[in-house]
Amino acid sequence: MKELSYENLIVEIDEKVAVVSFNRPKALNALNPPMLEELVDCLQTLEAKEDIRAVILTGAGEKAFVAGADIKAMAEFTPLDAKKFSGYGQHLMHFIEDMSKPVIAAVNGFALGGGTEIALACDFIYASEKAWFGQPEINLGVIPGFGGTQRLSRACGKARAIELCLTGDRIKAEEALRLGLVNRVVPHEELLDAAKAVARKIASKGAVSVRAAKRAVHAGFDTDLRNACRIERDAFALCFAAKDQKEGMAAFMEKREPNFTDSLE
Ligand code: CAA
Repeated sequence: MKELSYENLIVEIDEKVAVVSFNRPKALNALNPPMLEELVDCLQTLEAKEDIRAVILTGAGEKAFVAGADIKAMAEFTPLDAKKFSGYGQHLMHFIEDMSKPVIAAVNGFALGGGTEIALACDFIYASEKAWFGQPEINLGVIPGFGGTQRLSRACGKARAIELCLTGDRIKAEEALRLGLVNRVVPHEELLDAAKAVARKIASKGAVSVRAAKRAVHAGFDTDLRNACRIERDAFALCFAAKDQKEGMAAFMEKREPNFTDSLE
């Protein structure tokens, strides 16, 4: 298996959980094109590794998760460059949602612009008390380009999203929790442990049903209820093709813990 060694990312694997840290602390982990390319490569590699069952994204250094797309790299973009860059970022966000394993954002500091957008593309967000969220692109004379105008409104409602995108205001972790962007806020030093604990809990379930649940929620989210329920029905049925369904139900009836093996046979 390919070595997961990058210039702008740190990857640590422990007990089926991969922790990927954005690592340009001097630029507050701003996303420049090389870092985005490395992230695509890294996530594709992790997706292919069956022994990795959950991924955590976080930021190296004391201050930032990701302070946005790299403004210095974008300053001289032509409209065509901007369209390509936005398309590349949007594609990456879709890839995160489409991954078969959960991707958890552990937001340790500034998550601004592209930082909020990456966090919102993850399956859920845990935040440190020191985290900040926002879409400050309006202050640069532009708008979010990695899906922020769309995922933000889906996460916290249209009016809140418009206010955040038009004012460029930053919100603290507690406010993000209140708006429903964040699942949990924890003391700064406990963030990674909290994210690892929930990742390990999910990793202990059957891979087939974890994948089916994630797919059903994502695929159904932008669909009308009837079609979304059809998606769920197919995903539910698929679980019965896996050994884990027999094991999970047998374990319940035998009053013991299940031993999931992820096998389809
Ligand atoms: N791009 C490039 N460099 C950045 C950066 C970014 N998004 N954010 C921070 N940096 C750099 C700074 O330029 C600075 O570098 P130098 O020391 O070489 O000058 C270094 O990181 C430290 O930053 P500050 O000195 O500004 O730190 P601070 O603590 O005073 O402020 C901050 C922190 C409030 C996050 C501030 O850095 C800031 O406002 N950053 C920009 C945030 C932003 O506008 N993000 C949106 C980007 S556009 C986008 O993301 C578009 C999209 O949707 C794809």
